[in-house]
Amino acid sequence: MSVPSTAAELIDHILARFHETHRRELPGIVALARELEGKGAMPTLADDLDVMAKALEMHMFKEEMRLFPMMEQGGNALIVHLIDDMQAEHLDHADVVAELERRMADLGAPAGTEPDVAALRSAFSKLFDDLAQHVQLEETVLFPMFEARPAS
Ligand SMILES: [Fe+2]
Ligand SMILES: [Fe+2]
Repeated sequence: MSVPSTAAELIDHILARFHETHRRELPGIVALARELEGKGAMPTLADDLDVMAKALEMHMFKEEMRLFPMMEQGGNALIVHLIDDMQAEHLDHADVVAELERRMADLGAPAGTEPDVAALRSAFSKLFDDLAQHVQLEETVLFPMFEARPAS
């Protein structure tokens, strides 16, 4: 597809390409981690993933209910504060994701679980790549459309 050039088009793209994809993939990732935990691989990983999934859902919900509608209406004086909040949450997510990535790298595969561990690793790495692209697009293209610029 062509690169969206208006905020409304960009928002539609972010929703379809990233928000919906995260929502579709996260439950399966948590379920697979839960199943592996039952077979002795990496205790607490599923719980920590679940916490991350819920935090991400809350973040996307705030964007969809507050920030994006404001953007679609052209922005207002308060929008920079919401953008600041979203950027702070992006930083928090990046820390959590980096920690989960480290633990994924150390994940052992008890006998018989190798295919599931490989599937979890690959689902993880796709999710994390998507997340990085998602945040980068918001921070480098969408948010700057609404950040205060000095009058010229
Ligand atoms: Fe987003
Ligand atoms: Fe975001």
